[in-house]
Amino acid sequence: MNSNNEFLIPPIDDDYMNYADAFQDLDKFRQVMCWYGCAIREVRTKLEVLNDDFRTNNLRNPIDNIVARIKDPRSIYEKLRRRELPISLISILENLNDVAGIRVICPFIDDIYTVSDMLIEQDDIHLISKKDYIKNPKPNGYRSLHLLVEIPIFLSGGKRIMKVEVQIRTIAMNFWASLEHHIHYKKNQDDVEYAVSQLTECANVIYETDMKMQQIRKQLEFEGKLKMD
Ligand code: GTP
Ligand code: MG
Repeated sequence: MNSNNEFLIPPIDDDYMNYADAFQDLDKFRQVMCWYGCAIREVRTKLEVLNDDFRTNNLRNPIDNIVARIKDPRSIYEKLRRRELPISLISILENLNDVAGIRVICPFIDDIYTVSDMLIEQDDIHLISKKDYIKNPKPNGYRSLHLLVEIPIFLSGGKRIMKVEVQIRTIAMNFWASLEHHIHYKKNQDDVEYAVSQLTECANVIYETDMKMQQIRKQLEFEGKLKMD
């Protein structure tokens, strides 16, 4: 399993400083971002533990890769503005759910639900919401399982409960979502309808392939013909 912290903290450049400034106290802003980083580390560790344990019992890893990121100050600022919410640290903590984001990439569709269930049932994880875009794909074909969870972090001054958005998807779903993300189109315009229908078709083909690959794995598992990774 690959997992890295490369993108965890946005680089502190001029753009960072300009937008972070809008939240008045830069030190406090960085402290709050640090809390989100700690929350990500807690959730990531839980996922890594689950992955290791699952492997010892089932001979394979349900997680292929974990990527985490903290929303940069510009995106935080713009989201609050768009929603006409106060530009303050309290407002970030109360109103934004995706400042801390973790993306978990699984080999197979059933791994998504295995990982999700194992995470949610933990005592210190509180599930706020679950959106299943696999059972109910978005109109463009986007598929993923989205969890919004709360997790405690333990700081020198005591305990804090932080929100983390967890997106869980297969390698194939991630392939589609990553490429779709690169194709910038103006949503809600008639003349992009064809492009969107093509993207949706790709998403559906990918989903069928995901199902087929899972079926192959299950059959080999059933016949006892799976080799350790
Ligand atoms: P936001 O305020 O945009 O976060 O919306 P929301 O809270 O309703 O969340 P939603 O369930 O729509 O998911 C938000 C996140 O999921 C986005 O930031 C993307 O990372 C991912 N996502 C949702 N829809 C799509 C999509 O159509 N294509 C791609 N590539 N990613 C998507
Ligand atoms: Mg978002």
